[in-house]
Amino acid sequence: MPVTAIVGAQWGDEGKGRIVDYLAQRADMVIRFQGGDNAGHTVVNEHGTFKLHIVPSGIFNPSTRCVVGPGTVVNPDNLLRELSEVEDAGVSADNLWLSERAHIVMPYHPVIDGLQEQARSEGARIGTTKRGIGPTYADKAARRGLRLGDLLHPDWFKDRLAPVLEKRNRVLAEYGEPEMSLDALLDKAEGWRNALGHRIIDTLPMTRQAVREDQRVLLEGQLGVMRDIDWGIYPFCTSSNPIVGGACAGAGLPPTAINNIIGVVKVYSTAVGGGPFPVELEDADGLRLREIGNEYGATTGRPRRCGWFDGVAIRYASWINGFTGLAVTKLDVLDHFEEIKICTGYRVGEKVLDYVPDTPLLRHVEPVYETWEGWMQSTRGVRNWDDLPKAARAYLHRLSELADAPIRYVSVGAEREELIPIPTPWP
Ligand code: GDP
Ligand code: IMO
Ligand code: MG
Repeated sequence: MPVTAIVGAQWGDEGKGRIVDYLAQRADMVIRFQGGDNAGHTVVNEHGTFKLHIVPSGIFNPSTRCVVGPGTVVNPDNLLRELSEVEDAGVSADNLWLSERAHIVMPYHPVIDGLQEQARSEGARIGTTKRGIGPTYADKAARRGLRLGDLLHPDWFKDRLAPVLEKRNRVLAEYGEPEMSLDALLDKAEGWRNALGHRIIDTLPMTRQAVREDQRVLLEGQLGVMRDIDWGIYPFCTSSNPIVGGACAGAGLPPTAINNIIGVVKVYSTAVGGGPFPVELEDADGLRLREIGNEYGATTGRPRRCGWFDGVAIRYASWINGFTGLAVTKLDVLDHFEEIKICTGYRVGEKVLDYVPDTPLLRHVEPVYETWEGWMQSTRGVRNWDDLPKAARAYLHRLSELADAPIRYVSVGAEREELIPIPTPWP
């Protein structure tokens, strides 16, 4: 540590929640720095199985301060629901803090998200989570967003909401949807203020103090680079920056404060939602990856699209993020495959690209694979690098080579302790 960013190195769902939960056992602070409750971060530990959407995955360690950072968008109703779930499992949420600068996902945002998605033609559908993420970030950029801190100033909140709601209601009317009433939304805001007001603070002083005192801080990303708004498969992407570049603005610390950048990476590829996904397998191997890996969306339950590991995409992710290390997950899923493939290039006509081109061209690439021998034995009980099957170690070495970063953790199961920490230097 002390400041370690944990970011998705692929299309999301790499196992970020699982890795943050493990590392948070020794962390002083965890900051979620972008996205909203479109996230589904699964954590399996002694308290049970949780699908966290907006609550940081460090919540299970009572001495870890958990911060929903300024770069996030927060649906207060969903947050309150999630807090109840966590507290019902006997976990204290007393150490959860909300940045006053985080934007509010207002009740009209998910409705507009759903309507916009429906209006897109089949091939143009992004497959959003319909959590209102895009419309909320759009309002933020258009400077008509409402923020959590605004809730603490009822007059200011009302003055800002009234003209915004007029515009949003015009959009709802265009789609033939009922308008929302200002009074009803103000009542809702009062409920949010009463339930969450004590947690809404300026999170900068506590973040600055933690960094200055060399406390152990984790920056928890949402989604992955391939759905980043600038570097992902635009427009089939989310509306924020899951890459580490987003962590500075989204958490409130300078780039020089970040010591480690851990890319969380699954040993194969999955994506949920629309857009080009070159390694997608529509054959028996794809189905087996989905069934053995239990690849169904943590937020929407949708089956995830599955394919072999994409070495071109990881090279790209590594450059954009500057990974200092990798947390490799789901190695155990490959225990059942006699042969494993890795995509090392994208063929377009006569050429083979070793980089990820922009979306219009990416739609037409064909993956070029190399084949690796499987190990056909269980890795779930393994806790030391040296005890991994030789073929598994060779495969992991190849992943590390393609990512140009050392492996720091290998996850071999969903539960907290099903993990192999790798000694330095990387073997
Ligand atoms: P996140 O969004 O990046 O936090 O990842 P998700 O929670 O959406 O998806 C990861 C899924 O894989 C969850 O169901 C985890 O419980 C599960 N998982 C994480 N690590 C492992 C692992 O090493 N092996 C297996 N079999 N499952 C894992
Ligand atoms: P975690 O944090 C996987 C995908 C959606 C859609 C696109 C835009 O669990 O990895 P949005 O609702 O953000 O406007 O949807 O991004 N998507 C995710 N895919 N994991 C997620 O989160 C995702 N969050 C959004 O499927 O294609
Ligand atoms: Mg997820």
